[in-house]
Amino acid sequence: MYTVLSLLSLVTMTHAFPAGPPLERCQDMIPGHGPQPQTGASPYTVTMNTTSYSANDVIEVTVTATSGNFRGVFVQARPMCGNTNIAVGTFNLEQGEDKLQLLDCNGNTASAVAHRNNADVTNRTFYWRAPSQSVGHIYFRSTFVQTRPVFWVGVQSPRLQDPTVTSTTCPTNNNNGNSATSRTPEVVTLIIMAIFLRMTRL
Ligand SMILES: *[C@@H]1O[C@H](CO)[C@@H](O)[C@H](O)[C@H]1NC(C)=O
Ligand SMILES: *[C@@H]1O[C@H](CO)[C@@H](O)[C@H](O)[C@H]1NC(C)=O
Repeated sequence: MYTVLSLLSLVTMTHAFPAGPPLERCQDMIPGHGPQPQTGASPYTVTMNTTSYSANDVIEVTVTATSGNFRGVFVQARPMCGNTNIAVGTFNLEQGEDKLQLLDCNGNTASAVAHRNNADVTNRTFYWRAPSQSVGHIYFRSTFVQTRPVFWVGVQSPRLQDPTVTSTTCPTNNNNGNSATSRTPEVVTLIIMAIFLRMTRL
């Protein structure tokens, strides 16, 4: 029984997605559980053919291996401020694209690009159409899978500027800094410390 269980967990742990990531992975963009992402510099880059965008603009996006290949890729456009975990805009693929597919992350049609087979490639180019309303500066957040256990998460493109945003920092009331959630543990710790101090004094 234990053997079956460990075999099962081994299979789940090394589970990758040769046919592309499932929608459950849209937020964390991690290709399965088990092996940890690589922490060193990624041998992959994400570049665009421009540094700024306006509503409805089409931007050319290229993912390239600076050395070696990749067999898995997952790309989304993410706002730099505000709702930073949500994929924005719409992707399009080149005619006859045989490596990539479009995914509907966050219920938005074609809001992500991913591989659809595990063929090794060195580069791919595809297109991103900006939303019809300003979403501020964005960047392309990517995952690259080199081999099953060797992958990089959170590979960032340069920033794509929204010229309608003049501030260089996020507004203080945005939820990017997790101000509400990150303060909660501090408050809890203070309460626990206060209770502890009272108890030890009694
Ligand atoms: C970037 O590529 C897109 C799609 O090919 C094109 O429409 C757009 O004009 C290009 N932008 C620049 C600044 O070259
Ligand atoms: C990009 O990949 C294609 C094959 O898909 C290859 O022919 C081409 O040489 C590659 N370009 C670069 C710059 O690596």
